[in-house]
Amino acid sequence: MKLLHIDASALGDHSVSRTLSAAIVARFQAAGPDMDVEHLDLDASPLPHLTAASLAGADPVEADRARAVLDGFLAADVIVIGVPMYNFGIPSTLKAWIDRIAVAGRTFRYTANGAEGLAGGKRVILAIAQGGVHAPGSASDFQESYLRFLFGFLGIQDIEVVRAQGVNLSPETREKAMNDALAALPEPRRLAHAA
Ligand SMILES: Cc1cc2nc3c(=O)[nH]c(=O)nc-3n(C[C@H](O)[C@H](O)[C@H](O)COP(=O)(O)O)c2cc1C
Repeated sequence: MKLLHIDASALGDHSVSRTLSAAIVARFQAAGPDMDVEHLDLDASPLPHLTAASLAGADPVEADRARAVLDGFLAADVIVIGVPMYNFGIPSTLKAWIDRIAVAGRTFRYTANGAEGLAGGKRVILAIAQGGVHAPGSASDFQESYLRFLFGFLGIQDIEVVRAQGVNLSPETREKAMNDALAALPEPRRLAHAA
């Protein structure tokens, strides 16, 4: 089974979302020795912004990397993403990755009946970290609501969220949020089609 592990936090060892995403991946690895894990650190190796030159494939190195990123997404059975909240949304480094995997004709297509996702059958787990408290669907949540919609648009319905909220409010809220999140990690399970 292929697991794509993505981190985007700029806070290194102090990152809450990195701690949570690593704990989720470790749980999957402990559950089965055949787990093929690819780790994409979008902070250490950010993708360039999508520009007119990117769309034209002007830089062959960039085009090769974009292809590899899309292929890695398409090949993955499980995708675990550490998602910090930055300015009420996701980090721009994660958005740059999304701009490379939301590709018409590969992960979605337009039909006479509207858009159709082509990347179904995957499981997505979001490890969300927020300094304050922004409930899913609330006016200030442009993080979970956006990612649920985006992956749904690509055809992925199997989406789970581990959330640590209020981590910057006080040391006590941080510790409680981390402990609660680590106690509620998703169970590894084999997807029906995954090798
Ligand atoms: C650049 C930046 C912007 C942030 N913006 C917000 C915000 O809009 N709302 C919020 O609740 N917390 C915000 N925070 C706090 C982070 O959500 C919090 O530190 C969280 O732990 C980030 O995840 P990480 O630890 O994995 O990096 C921000 C932090 C940084 C560094």
